[in-house]
Amino acid sequence: MASSRTLLLALAALAPATNAQNFGGSGRAADDFTYVQPLNTTILGGYGHSPAVYPSPNMTGTGGWKDAMAKAQEFVSQLTPEEKAWMVTGAAGPCVGNIKPIPRLGFNGICLQDGPLSIRVADYASVFSAGVSAAASWDRKVLYERGFAMGEEFKAKGAQVALSPVCGPLGRSAYSGRNWEGFAADPYLTGVAMEVTIKGHQDAGVQATPKHFIGNEQETQRNPTLDESGTNVIQEAISANIDDRTMHELYLWPFANSVRANAASIMCSYQRLNGSYGCENSKALNGLLKGELGFQGYVMSDWGAVHSGVPSIESGLDMNMPGGLGAYGMDPTLGSYFGGNVTTAVNNGTLQESRLDDMIVRIMTPYYHLGQDKDFPTTDASSGVLNTFFKKKDWKPEEWNMTGESSRDVRGNHGDLIRKHGAEATVLLKNVNKALPLKAPKSIAVFGNDAGDITEGFLNQKSYEYGTLAAGGGSGTGRFTYLITPLEAVKARARKDAVVEQHPDRLEQHDRPLEPHSPEVCLVFLKTWAEEATDRKHLSVDYDGEEVVASVAKFCNNTVVVTHSSGINLLPFADHPNVTAILAAHYPGQESGNSIVDILYGDVNPSGKLPYTIAFNGTDYNAPPTTAVNTTGIDDWQSWFDEKLEIDYRYFDAHNISVRYEFGFGLSYTTFELAELKAEALAQDIPAAPAAEPVQPGGNPALWAPLYNVTVEVSNTGDADGATVPQLYVHFPDSTPAGTPPQQLRGFDKVLLKKGDKTTVSFELMRRDISYWDIVSQGWVIPAGEFTLSAGLSSRDFRATAKITPVKA
Ligand code: BGC
Repeated sequence: MASSRTLLLALAALAPATNAQNFGGSGRAADDFTYVQPLNTTILGGYGHSPAVYPSPNMTGTGGWKDAMAKAQEFVSQLTPEEKAWMVTGAAGPCVGNIKPIPRLGFNGICLQDGPLSIRVADYASVFSAGVSAAASWDRKVLYERGFAMGEEFKAKGAQVALSPVCGPLGRSAYSGRNWEGFAADPYLTGVAMEVTIKGHQDAGVQATPKHFIGNEQETQRNPTLDESGTNVIQEAISANIDDRTMHELYLWPFANSVRANAASIMCSYQRLNGSYGCENSKALNGLLKGELGFQGYVMSDWGAVHSGVPSIESGLDMNMPGGLGAYGMDPTLGSYFGGNVTTAVNNGTLQESRLDDMIVRIMTPYYHLGQDKDFPTTDASSGVLNTFFKKKDWKPEEWNMTGESSRDVRGNHGDLIRKHGAEATVLLKNVNKALPLKAPKSIAVFGNDAGDITEGFLNQKSYEYGTLAAGGGSGTGRFTYLITPLEAVKARARKDAVVEQHPDRLEQHDRPLEPHSPEVCLVFLKTWAEEATDRKHLSVDYDGEEVVASVAKFCNNTVVVTHSSGINLLPFADHPNVTAILAAHYPGQESGNSIVDILYGDVNPSGKLPYTIAFNGTDYNAPPTTAVNTTGIDDWQSWFDEKLEIDYRYFDAHNISVRYEFGFGLSYTTFELAELKAEALAQDIPAAPAAEPVQPGGNPALWAPLYNVTVEVSNTGDADGATVPQLYVHFPDSTPAGTPPQQLRGFDKVLLKKGDKTTVSFELMRRDISYWDIVSQGWVIPAGEFTLSAGLSSRDFRATAKITPVKA
């Protein structure tokens, strides 16, 4: 007999999409269109409410997708009703997500694999640096190389879809458990990182899946609380309540870059947004993503994030992952909101078949566009063996195309790249008395539980007490085939000149003098864990790291601290006179030890910059996650994004709060200077609002038109070769509506200069870069009056300024 939940699901799937019906049929031109915001959508909605936006726009093929779209349409025309349903519904299989093969049409199925730093469910694959590390490089080349190399590994293992990269969370809260999977607490830097990574993945032949759309800024209560039976909701998931301007200027911004980069898919998020679940929020999916941004790919659900059938489909969801509800420990016989329910809904007229066809055309267009119908490697059988997501009894290996070599080694020379990327992303925060680079010291002591080998299990990172940390936890982690520890790399590098004393423990009695005399340098390696599904409890380094530093620094007047961390750490020991250097190395991936030794010894001159701000106190940060809701109302988990645009440096700057190390900060073994900031207008008589051009992927193309070419001279004024990152910040004129942050990043470039050399760096200011989102006209507007542009070496270290007045007051 069907359980009550089964009936519930079936009923939900069959229920008419009430909101949708008010808006009638498509009414959309079949080809390129100019998106017009449905009347009153914002006004009707208001803060904390999501207005209805229907119908779900059909894809048009604009932006270079048309040939592939024609192939996808031809494919759809051959499908039976049942096959159509299964094309949009995940099934148990060898990968984390699977669309079943249809042998009769020569379709081998689609294999979807995590994640943002490696192909996770695989053997003989590389673990790359985490997003936070890659962002700390502030280097488009590093970001692209990383994205491309990852794409090569996904493809070689036979995964058509990479569940990567991440820009949600963006980093609203310092404590969010998944910030490290994403890039920076700034939409501009994150937007560039998304665009470049997606191009890398897709140039390698793999579909990218920017995630999680949208407002996924905390882990606490990301899913609803169910009763003991696992079938009834006691409390709904947290609702991220975001106003329209903040949505556009912060959280949607990097997704716009992603759509512009022609991302194949976008994963909608677990939590609610302004009251509606992320995967059934029609304003977000139909309105913002497919309408305003002209997204041509498919919206895929997060795993178990689907809470309805037809209403989700009408709201813009195209693919239900992982399919059956069995995934999260629920009864697998409960089935899916999609699957057979979709067929029933089409047959009884609840769901228009044209909508279902559009879903599949969206799913298959990237497949053809990237040539995945031709010579794509078969799924490595080892993925099926390692996959713990599906019970082996629920799928039959012979139904999947896994005929190729098993346990393929896909790592190539990626270890070299990972070593280089790790070094280029390491941020030097303090360096006094020329402590670094090391000059062949004769004695080195190594401390801290992050220095040595993991002793309690190796395959996926966990918050183990002993052993170095090179990735965080959850679906964004990687399965290491090897991991070079700092201790191992220091010993190898120092072998010819130094004695290395080892204390790779947590808290020893470090207050005794080391015999026969103190080491020339004490290296302290500390770690900080973060993982999916839980937020961080504090911003200190883990395992009493601050006490470890204090006890070492008591006797060692040349204490160098290295952190391997998910992100923000308060660093109170930065004031200690015996702490001579601090390096933030984040999560560098499998070559971690080699990357840090390259920096310590000066083989690589540090050029990483912080992708967030380090404050003095945990309480200095605004927007902590919403936790400890003690009331029991079903809708009581609400997170009001009242800080609006004031996250990270935007907040500290707006309130003049002193910080320890600001966004964009990072030292080098040489020094740099900036001068001669100049802005050349690329257009005359710039109107405040853009021309309404037909929407392309990324939105109105006029928003991406370059309006100014800004240049600045950069000189290496020190005595070593090295790279730095000139950064361009924009200060909007007073006519901009209240709440505009004092300065916002709108350009950066990494340049390598020999000592004494000078070069000119240019930044392109596009229309979006100098506009704010006007909630009244529902468009981007350049405010009237004078802007100040500042070029700096961080968000608080400006070296040159210029003025522009694009629109006269
Ligand atoms: C995560 C996604 C991930 C998926 C599949 C979910 O819990 O939120 O980021 O891709 O699982 O593992």
